Amino acid sequence: MAAFQSPHYSPQTGASSDAAQRCPIAQAPALRYKTSMDIPTFSSILITGGSSGIGRALATELAKPGVRITLTGRDQNRLNDAVQACRAKGADVKGHVLDVTDSHALAQLIDAADKARPLDLVIANAGISGGAGSDAKDADQTHRIIDINITGVINTVLPAVDAMRTHGRGRIGIVSSLAGFRGMPTAPAYSASKVAVKAWGDAIRPGLAKDGIGLSMIYPGFVESRITDANDFPMPMLMKAPRAAEIIHRGLADGKRAITFPWPMVLMMRLLSALPGPLFDALLARAPKKG
Ligand SMILES: NC(=O)c1ccc[n+]([C@@H]2O[C@H](COP(=O)([O-])OP(=O)(O)OC[C@H]3O[C@@H](n4cnc5c(N)ncnc54)[C@H](OP(=O)(O)O)[C@@H]3O)[C@@H](O)[C@H]2O)c1
Repeated sequence: MAAFQSPHYSPQTGASSDAAQRCPIAQAPALRYKTSMDIPTFSSILITGGSSGIGRALATELAKPGVRITLTGRDQNRLNDAVQACRAKGADVKGHVLDVTDSHALAQLIDAADKARPLDLVIANAGISGGAGSDAKDADQTHRIIDINITGVINTVLPAVDAMRTHGRGRIGIVSSLAGFRGMPTAPAYSASKVAVKAWGDAIRPGLAKDGIGLSMIYPGFVESRITDANDFPMPMLMKAPRAAEIIHRGLADGKRAITFPWPMVLMMRLLSALPGPLFDALLARAPKKG
């Protein structure tokens, strides 16, 4: 994004020139939008589910020379592609095939990545919606969604916190969803998993802050990925993954508690979530089920 500066502003001293001081408008504090140069650099990053969609786009967005990135995924080919894309941008990248429900393997990986270079950003992103647990009778799918989307997040965050505590700094990002504002009849297990990580993230944030660790909850609307590829209904404001990654990067760099986008969908979901139960149920009754 281009910088906008008062022409009288001195980037060295932050002071305005004499000419500027004669102009009342210029006496106002200098306005300056942040440029990519201002974004704090995360130099040791781990992203679960970095092989596809939002995780891959975020990894590519963060990749640059001097940055070390650890990516996980389940599919070796997809992971290799993502690793190559980040290496092409000059980052030092390692890919690991790993299931986030395997707490032991994930803890070992996080420990090893932190020993290689202290982690300053860990993103618990891996998730599924497959079928979205669209029926309360769909036991297998419901358990799978809960295991991956909740337990997988916990398996990522707890060892990351252990590592970051020893350094007294770091930032954790947890990918929830705008569907995590309220249990959605269109995707019961999926929305429940996203509500749960939202609640957990918000609950642990104050304790982490005491140890110098920041936590950003991430609530995307519809973003192009393998998850949305499976949806056969119109998705308002469907966003490209690289654009979503830019927004997430900016929010993480700004240390935001909540990164929500796109705003019209955020507004709509907030209004929807505030509706009385019977009205909410009636409105959602005819909405298409998530894929
Ligand atoms: N796309 C959206 O509209 C949207 C909106 C809100 C929130 N989200 C959330 O964003 C996150 C990323 O999803 P996405 O949309 O980018 O979908 P995606 O393209 O399907 O990517 C999901 C990623 O998670 C990985 N993954 C899934 N299950 C895993 C497991 N058990 N162990 C390890 N890795 C696993 C996948 O690995 P493989 O490639 O190896 O399968 C892949 O890298 C999810 O938490 C999702 O709920 C997405």
